[in-house]
Amino acid sequence: MSQELRFPPGFLWGAATAAYQIEGAWHEDGKGESIWDRFAHTPGTIADGTTGDVACDHYHRWEEDVAHMVAMGLKSYRFSIAWPRILPAGSGALNQRGLDFYRRLIEALNRHGIIPNVTLYHWDLPQALQDRGGWANRDTAFRFAEYAALIFRRLGAEVPLWATHNEPFVHVYNGHAIGDHAPGRRNPWQLLRIGHHLLLSHGLAVEAFRAEASHASTLDGPAPQIGIVLAIWPHHPASTRPRDVRANRFADGAMNRLFLEPLFRGRYPADVLRHFAWRGIRAPVRPGDLELISAPIDFLGLNTYSRLINQYDPLNLISGTRQVPGPGPVDAIGREIYPPCILEALRIARAYTSLPLYITENGLACHDVVGSDGVVDDAARIAYLRDHIAVAHQAIQKGIDLRGYYVWSLLDNFEWSYGQRMRFGLLYTDFATSRRIWKRSAHWYREVIARNGLLH
Ligand code: FCB
Repeated sequence: MSQELRFPPGFLWGAATAAYQIEGAWHEDGKGESIWDRFAHTPGTIADGTTGDVACDHYHRWEEDVAHMVAMGLKSYRFSIAWPRILPAGSGALNQRGLDFYRRLIEALNRHGIIPNVTLYHWDLPQALQDRGGWANRDTAFRFAEYAALIFRRLGAEVPLWATHNEPFVHVYNGHAIGDHAPGRRNPWQLLRIGHHLLLSHGLAVEAFRAEASHASTLDGPAPQIGIVLAIWPHHPASTRPRDVRANRFADGAMNRLFLEPLFRGRYPADVLRHFAWRGIRAPVRPGDLELISAPIDFLGLNTYSRLINQYDPLNLISGTRQVPGPGPVDAIGREIYPPCILEALRIARAYTSLPLYITENGLACHDVVGSDGVVDDAARIAYLRDHIAVAHQAIQKGIDLRGYYVWSLLDNFEWSYGQRMRFGLLYTDFATSRRIWKRSAHWYREVIARNGLLH
């Protein structure tokens, strides 16, 4: 028998994207080069040899995309601003045409009652700043704060939900240690340095946001809020053997606690710092940094897709850990489908803060195809979303202050080092023509939103 799972009034049903993954127009209207432009233009970096040069061509088709959101009934749309579109050289001269693009998009969303949830940095650093050391250079944090202040001054009042960063964990590890993301560095010795500067830049941006808000003119409606989006995945040990348990604790520490603890407790987790220090990896913390990093924010966004199962691995000299497959079925990327990840991730966050929480990303990678009847039948995605949303409902029943849920992603897009091979969208993107096709999951999600819940 099916059961109706209803969400609280005002729950934000959303979908998420990121600038480099959808916009294209990489070199138009005065935009500067980003580290992702440089990286994807380097042969051998992207599995299928594609780039984000055109991606979904959203830069030119944003009105059509807003129309899809309206038709779907989205309550909120999460997207990011490309820093090099605003400040082509990373700092200095403003590119008005870049700013106008986002202003028009935000105005259109507001006109349709779709709440913009805007991330300032989803990994596309201006290449000019990378040329000066990127996030390894402390100065980049101050350039970020200037960029943030400029955006808050121009667009601050129009956007109810601001996030400084998207998943600093992934940017640190994939971009700077593993090297399969831009800027393609393979330097684990700089892990904590990069992470610390990202967090510092968050703290400086929050400070700029508060300064701006204090002299902003009176507004109707609730005051804009600021937060950050973290990748929070639950970690489980592969066995009860002490060394697996220890390996698991470190893996959880490096992904979750390394960011939650400085943000909410004003210190780095001692066990993680010790582990890294033995390997010569240190965070260049200066007096006052942690106070800035832990300045109060208004909400926390969590991106969670699955769980990780960790086993001790002496051959991994940095982490001493490797991940082993779970028992459940996996998606096209090889991630285990594990709906409790929603509740477990929310609980991890809850241990640090009672702030309002949002699931800012959750979704499934599939090899979707358009059938001969023109239909994209992504039943697996519908099942995934249904089961994860049901757990989100459970979390609310258990008293967790979850305010919204965003599907990753609104439309199939450039999935970083996988290129166009991994499809996460509610809308199918035909990359040859940029045509969007509603998948079955998009129709299904529209009903969920209309009903403010699920028939489960
Ligand atoms: C997250 C990223 C997002 C997308 C999804 C699949 O880690 O924030 O850009 O790549 O994974």
